[in-house]
Amino acid sequence: MGLFNHLTNNSQNPTPQQNSHNEKNGDDQAATAKKNLLTPVHLFSHGSTMMLGEESASASYWAKCGREALANGVEHVVMMGAHWATSLPNTVLISANPTPSKSPVAFVAPHKYKSYALNPDMAFIPAIQSHLSRAGIASKLDHHFDWIHDTYLVLIRMFPSGCPPTTIISANYAYDPHFHVSVGAALRPLRSDKTLFIGSGGSVHNLYRNVWGPMLQHRDNFAQPTPPEPWALDFRQEVIDTFCAGYEQESSPLPKSIPYGREIRSSSRAAPGGGVGGPLLRRKATSLMKHPKYRDAHATDDHFMATMFVAGLCGSVEDVGVEGVLGAEDWELTNMCNSQFTLGGWD
Ligand SMILES: [Fe+2]
Repeated sequence: MGLFNHLTNNSQNPTPQQNSHNEKNGDDQAATAKKNLLTPVHLFSHGSTMMLGEESASASYWAKCGREALANGVEHVVMMGAHWATSLPNTVLISANPTPSKSPVAFVAPHKYKSYALNPDMAFIPAIQSHLSRAGIASKLDHHFDWIHDTYLVLIRMFPSGCPPTTIISANYAYDPHFHVSVGAALRPLRSDKTLFIGSGGSVHNLYRNVWGPMLQHRDNFAQPTPPEPWALDFRQEVIDTFCAGYEQESSPLPKSIPYGREIRSSSRAAPGGGVGGPLLRRKATSLMKHPKYRDAHATDDHFMATMFVAGLCGSVEDVGVEGVLGAEDWELTNMCNSQFTLGGWD
C-alpha cells in the first residue's frame, strides 16, 4: 500500500482516537460557528446629557457600532438604560408606547434631538416577554412610557439616519445585581435573532462627586480642570479589568483614520480559551458592586444595572472565549468615566 493510499485509508477509517479528535474539532467548529452567529453586545456609558450634543471619542465609537449593526442586518435593538425602573417585585417593564415622546434633556440644542423619530418595536414584544417568562421573570407593558435620554441619546448617535425598531426594558428598583444578570441571561438566545442588545449606564457615575462648575458656567462638560480623583480611577480600572481582562497595555494610538481614540482589548491569555465572556464574567460583574470603591463610584445603583444586564447576556458557558473591547472612553465633569465596551463581534 502506497503512502497516499495509507493516508487515504486512515482518513476513511479513523481510529477511535481520531474519531474522538475529529468529534472534538467538529464540536469546536460548531461552537465557533454558533458563537459567530450571535450578535455582539454593547455596554455603553451615556454620561451627561451633553454627550448627545458634543463631539467625543464615545460619539464616534457609537456611530461606528451603529454602522456595523446596520451593515450586518440588525433587525431589532433591545436596551436597558439607567433612568427607568419598577418597584414591582421580580418584574421589569417593557416599553410599549406606540408613539413615545422624548423626555426633556438639558444643555443640548433642541435641533439635535427633537426631530429624531423614535421607532418602538411593538411586534417584538411578545418574543421578549416569552423569553423572560420562560426564565420566571415577570414583565409588564408600559403603554405610556416616554423615552429618556439614557437610551435615545445613544440611538441618535448610533443611527443618525433613522432609529431601528427598538425596545427598552426597565431596571428593577431593588437593584439586585443577580436579578439583572438573570434578565440578560433570559434574553441571550435572542442574540441569534438579529437582535442587538445595548446596556446604557456608566462605569464611574456619581453625580454627587462630579465637578459641575465648568459645565454649568461654560457649557464645557469635558473641561477636566483637575485629574479624576483616585477612587474614580481605581473603580474605572476595576471595570476595565472585568470587561477587558488580561490586557497587556493600553494599546498604542490607533491610526488617525480611526477617530475614536484608543482601544483596550482583552488578552487571549486572560482565561483558558481567552476572552472575557462566560460564567466568570457574571461573577466578576456582580462582585464589582461589593468592591470597596463601588459606593464612591456609584452613589446610587441605577447606572450600574446595565452592566449586570450585559454580563447576563454574555455569561453563558457558550460565551467563554468571547473578547471584550474598550472601544472609546471620555471623562466628563472631572470624575465621571464614560467607558464604551463591546463584547463579541460580527465576524
Ligand atoms: Fe444617566
